[in-house]
Amino acid sequence: MTNKISESDIVKAIGEDIPSLLREKLNGMDLTYEELSKEENNDVLHEILNFLFKEDDHIIRAGEHRINDWNKGWGENAKEFSEHKHYNSLIPKYFGKHPYIRWNKNIIKPCNKNMEYNMVEILQYWVFDKFLKDCDNIYEFGCGTGHNLFRAREVNPTAKITGLDWSTSSQESINQINNILGLDFGSHRFDFFNVDKEFKLGQKSGIYTFAALEQINNRYHDFINYLIDNNADICLHIEPIGEYLDDNNIYDFLSKKYFEKRNYLKGFKNCLYNLEREGKIEIVYEKSSFIGSMFINGYSLVAWRKR
Ligand SMILES: C[S@@+](CC[C@H](N)C(=O)[O-])C[C@H]1O[C@@H](n2cnc3c(N)ncnc32)[C@H](O)[C@@H]1O
Repeated sequence: MTNKISESDIVKAIGEDIPSLLREKLNGMDLTYEELSKEENNDVLHEILNFLFKEDDHIIRAGEHRINDWNKGWGENAKEFSEHKHYNSLIPKYFGKHPYIRWNKNIIKPCNKNMEYNMVEILQYWVFDKFLKDCDNIYEFGCGTGHNLFRAREVNPTAKITGLDWSTSSQESINQINNILGLDFGSHRFDFFNVDKEFKLGQKSGIYTFAALEQINNRYHDFINYLIDNNADICLHIEPIGEYLDDNNIYDFLSKKYFEKRNYLKGFKNCLYNLEREGKIEIVYEKSSFIGSMFINGYSLVAWRKR
């Protein structure tokens, strides 16, 4: 059966009214989808289980050894962008790769392959408006090609916006964006594994990570301390955070198995809770992921600030 995610469905999933910019954007998105038949649902579950429980050697684990892969991937995007000079070249190739996505803790089949990316855009327009609208400085750590920075710019037209990543292809990509489109994004090399304490955050700063801390398992302590030391005004993490998922939901449960197999982010919520208990930070917002790819509900949100 064909269905469509409506504005009111999104308001309901988010749990509050949405900003007018997002409302406008929804008009240009095709959010129609097919509900899965029982057989199709079984096939998808079978594919996920097969990925998770066959021999582990096919699974690419996150970690330090992957630097060249990221350099290569973002280098390819940057090359394509320099040729076509089109925003779409900046979108990571993993969006729209599978015929299924997640919505409201279920699996659905989008009619349009852009829908997976559209759902990410929806989430970002909402979160950025909620937390970054009034910042003077915005930083995305682990920003990849820099494609998310455009939405931060739309929501906040005056802030200085900087993208950071350990991959030098990321800085190359951002430099090209600036040269080709006449934008003024900052770029800086930053490695979560070797935090550059010399890089200081500006006044009224908002920082976010989007599917980036996922890559570092439990090696986020130096980065969190860096953010505390730099008095970041608001820190947002939109990441695969297993502790926000519901073990009683089969799709959430399998997401958590996937996080483990891929060596994704681990113990992050507990770390923030401990810091809150110690009086160092205040957690201001938490939300379980309501969108995702075929394999994971990967976009839970936690926001915190220094106390
Ligand atoms: C899944 S991608 C997400 C990129 C971007 N946030 C986006 O939404 O397109 C993960 C990103 O984390 C970056 N990354 C992985 N390990 C890192 C590290 N140790 N320090 C900084 N960035 C890292 C990768 O280079 C890549 O850009």
